[in-house]
This record gives sequence, C-alpha cells and structure tokens, in this order.
Amino acid sequence: MNFTTHDTRIAILGLGYVGLPLAAEFGKHLSTLGFDINKARLEELQGGFDSTLEVSNEELEQASLLTYSAEIDALKSCNVFIVTVPTPINEHKQPDLTPLLKASAVIGKALKQGDVVIYESTVYPGATEEECVPVLERESGLVFNKDFYCGYSPERINPGDKEHRVTSILKVTSGSTPAVADFVDNLYRSIITAGTYKASSIKVAEAAKVIENTQRDVNIGLINELAVIFNKLDIDTEEVLKAAGTKWNFLPFRPGLVGGHCIGVDPYYLTHKAQSVGYHPEIILAGRRLNDGMGAYVVSQLVKSMLKKRIQVDGARVLVLGLTFKEDCPDLRNTKVVDIVGELSDYGINVDCYDPWINAADAEHEYNITPVSVPDQGAYDAVIIAVAHKQFKEMGAEGIRAFGKPEHVLYDLKYILPADAADLRL
Ligand SMILES: NC(=O)c1ccc[n+]([C@@H]2O[C@H](COP(=O)([O-])OP(=O)(O)OC[C@H]3O[C@@H](n4cnc5c(N)ncnc54)[C@H](O)[C@@H]3O)[C@@H](O)[C@H]2O)c1
Repeated sequence: MNFTTHDTRIAILGLGYVGLPLAAEFGKHLSTLGFDINKARLEELQGGFDSTLEVSNEELEQASLLTYSAEIDALKSCNVFIVTVPTPINEHKQPDLTPLLKASAVIGKALKQGDVVIYESTVYPGATEEECVPVLERESGLVFNKDFYCGYSPERINPGDKEHRVTSILKVTSGSTPAVADFVDNLYRSIITAGTYKASSIKVAEAAKVIENTQRDVNIGLINELAVIFNKLDIDTEEVLKAAGTKWNFLPFRPGLVGGHCIGVDPYYLTHKAQSVGYHPEIILAGRRLNDGMGAYVVSQLVKSMLKKRIQVDGARVLVLGLTFKEDCPDLRNTKVVDIVGELSDYGINVDCYDPWINAADAEHEYNITPVSVPDQGAYDAVIIAVAHKQFKEMGAEGIRAFGKPEHVLYDLKYILPADAADLRL
C-alpha cells in the first residue's frame, strides 16, 4: 500500500441499497467511481434519480466527485475497490457467491501494485480470504498481502430508515495487515460521523456481521413460536409482549414475516460454513424453519376465522395490504408476503394485493403478481394488513374495513390497529 486516504481513488462495485449511499457519501469528498453491471440502474443514477429512494436527488447532486461506469477500463484508474454486490442464496438455501466472485474477477483485471480491495457484502467467516482473494490473485497475477491487500467492512444500513443512515451508523472495519486495517479504518472514519470499530481480523468482522442478522432471526423465531402458542391459548401476544417488556432486559422483538435480503438469508451463510466444518446448527435452523412457515400459519388462522363466520373460502376475495418486505420502502426482495398470497391461492381464494410503495412492473416481474392500483370498496371477504406502511396506518380501522363486505375478517399482522379493532392479530 503506497498511498494515503488523500490520493485515494475509490471504485464501488454494485450500486444498490448498500453501494449507492456509500458512493454518494464518498463522492462528496473523494474521487469515486460507481460501477454496476445494470445499465438501466446507471442511467437512472446519471439522470440524478435513485429508484430505491435511499439517496435523494439533492444528495446525488452534492456528490460532485461521483461518476458512473459499467466499463472495466474505467476501474483501472482506481486504487481502492469496495464491493457491495448481492450475496443471495440458491434454491437449496446455499450461499450463491457468483456476483461476489464475478466482481472480484473484474477487479482482478484492474488491480495494481499497492491497491486495496474492501468487501462489504455479507458473507460467512473466511469468504474474503478463502474465496475472493484467490480470484483476485488469479486475475491480476499479483500476490496477496505483498502486491495488494484486502479489507472487510460490513454494512448495517436499514432500507427505508431515514434516521440510521450510512454516516450515522458505527461501522466495523478490518484489514489483511495491521497497516491496511488502519488505512481502511481511517478511510471510513473520514465519512462515518458515528465512528468506526476496528475488528482484530477480517474473519472477525465477517463473523460479526453475519451473527447480527442471525441473532435477530432467531429472536424473531422465538417470538413467532410464542405467538403460535398464545393464539392457541387465546391470549393476545402484543398484550403479553407489552407486559413482559416492562422488565429492563426483556428484548423488544415482535412476531411477523421475516423477509428481505438480509435476515432471512444471512443465517444460511453461517449454517453453510458451520456444516462445512462438521457442525450442524440446531437453533439457527429451527429459527429459519419457524420464520419461513409463518405465511402458511397466517393463512391457516385466517381461513379458520372465515369458516367460523360462515364465509365461503373457495372463491372468496381477499385483499392483502402491502407487498414489500418491510414498511415504508419499495423493497420487494425476498418478501414473505408472497407466501401468504400463494397459500391463499392454494385455497382457491382470489387475492388482490395493494401496495402504494411499489412499482407494479417489479411485482409482476419478480412474483407474477399484478397489484391493484386501488382496492375495491365493500368487496372483500377478508383483509390482511401485511405491511405497516404509513398509508395503512392513516386509513385506520374504519378506512380499512371499508374495503370489506358487510361480513368480513380483518387480520392485523402488524399491530397497526388497536387490539379490539381487528378480528385477528398474530
Ligand atoms: N440492503 C440491506 O439492507 C443490506 C444491509 C447490510 C448489508 N447488506 C449486504 O450488502 C450486499 C449488497 O446488498 P444490496 O441490498 O445493496 O443489494 P442490491 O441488490 O440492492 O444491489 C446490488 C447491486 O449490485 C449490482 N451487481 C450485481 N452483480 C454485480 C457485479 N458483478 N459487478 C457490479 N455490480 C453488480 C446489481 O446490479 C445491483 O445494482 C449484500 O451482501 C447484502 O447482504 C444489505
């Protein structure tokens, strides 16, 4: 490494929910190249618009040193490469490192003596040095920790959250040598006002990130199990959680669907690695199974309630409010609301989905679901509040019940209504 943070020319590979906010921040202070294989994404950003709604048009304008490209040649003038590409799982719930390895191969072609490659994508402990470094060495012909160096600095942003933003979240950093760890730490400290935490190794930083999401997943799994038990006992889960929450060390988790690009996916990275060293995780996978089964559970509850009200299930019309994986953002990735929609359809129910946050074409492309632009009034045998978007909160019980027929079931999955305003709660 032969440069300081002052003559750093950054390339950020993958301009999604993680990469773009980072690029916009670095691009205020340092020469920053935003690189992405999705040309349509680059075009919208060049036009000053971010369809993920994470970075405003003004913020993009303020990033005056940020440029964009999909050309490998453009990377050659850079000396720090930050990788923020997706790390999904495949249909067998195994890590799919394809984007990470492809991005590494591209960097390898541009890598020079003294350059630093920092990974931000969520991975299992060991992935940077065991999987990515060999690709960098192969493509560049350079030697790790002699000619080039690596860092790992996981991201903690939360899509749709305007309070916890990239600069206001403390960031874990690490490097492949003590000097590189200092360089990586200083680099991030130049933009992260919340400060940084230098982990003792890349593996420690990788493991820290993956357990943050695993811990959340397992905790939500426990609360989901409690919700199933309390439903059987005819006790309101929210009321129990409120009462238990008065103890200083009771953790405030809520039951619900666990979707999105992180919490429902990252634990499989850890379990994959654990299995590769001969340990078969029990609690982590039990949490995953429970959380993945919640869509079917919700529909079984709804159908029972419809039958109790003598509402014919086969051919019924159900309105699902919200399709995104979380509230107040347009992110549809790995949304578990689709499990509810699929399960309802299996019962012969006609489902309308309404979500004011999403792009209908995305829902069609990803899930083959055509959302309604406005739900019908007085038309549905049941309404499920699946996502706590502010628009649904503003409608209140009266506004939402107006979509139902005179006899209908209202299921509030997200506790946005007072306890007695819904017929069913999770
Ligand atoms: N979204 C989150 O809340 C969040 C939070 C923390 C960590 N993470 C992790 O960060 C990583 C990125 O997630 P994201 O949500 O930003 O993903 P994303 O899908 O929003 O964006 C990824 C971008 O990478 C681009 N891309 C894919 N392959 C590429 C390649 N080979 N070269 C260059 N660009 C490529 C895609 O076109 C896309 O624009 C993942 O590992 C994720 O687990 C995400």
